Amino acid sequence: MSDHDIPRLGDGDVLELILDDHRRFEDLLRECRRTDTDRSSARQALAEVLVAHAEAEEEEVYPTLRAQADDISDHEAEHGEEEHAEIHEKLLAFLRVEDTTGEDYDEALEDLATVVNHHSNEEEQTILNPAREDVAVADRERLGAAWTARRNQLLDEGCASVDQVAAILTAAVDEGTLAPEDAREEAEKIKETADELAEEVEDGAKKGG
Ligand SMILES: [Fe+2]
Ligand SMILES: [Fe+2]
Ligand SMILES: [Fe+2]
Repeated sequence: MSDHDIPRLGDGDVLELILDDHRRFEDLLRECRRTDTDRSSARQALAEVLVAHAEAEEEEVYPTLRAQADDISDHEAEHGEEEHAEIHEKLLAFLRVEDTTGEDYDEALEDLATVVNHHSNEEEQTILNPAREDVAVADRERLGAAWTARRNQLLDEGCASVDQVAAILTAAVDEGTLAPEDAREEAEKIKETADELAEEVEDGAKKGG
């Protein structure tokens, strides 16, 4: 048993179960930042729960919520799936860092943390909150059982090796959820240049600088 075993969840309201895991993401991101912990084990645990959580949401939860809650449009559900793909992309880069004590590790971890935190917040606001109003508790419990079963099954099988995450990304590109790698790299470079320019503008405008 490692220090970072992921609990298998029981039944309950799917919205509460999902929130529970979002807190788990934060805890594990923090574990990954620590210097007095087994970072490889924390990283692998984070990877497994991120993948199992998101895959089970897409398969078992999003389609029903989209159909039942008026305020959850196709746009919200599709945006959620895009963000899952972005998370898997940053996760793959993080898993590929060999030295868990170097700067590359810290950078890849913070890139991943940024997309995970953004997605948790947005999912809570645009998907879970409307579902709380529009979807009956009995349905939420039925979804909770389905989501948990799928999540736990993925965790039992192991779902976040480098090869497994790479395959999920390839599938996301094939389905049109994620742009192909060369386009994503180009977009990343444009963003970096724009950030540098923005910083120059701000520095130039600071008084007494
Ligand atoms: Fe989630
Ligand atoms: Fe999600
Ligand atoms: Fe977003």
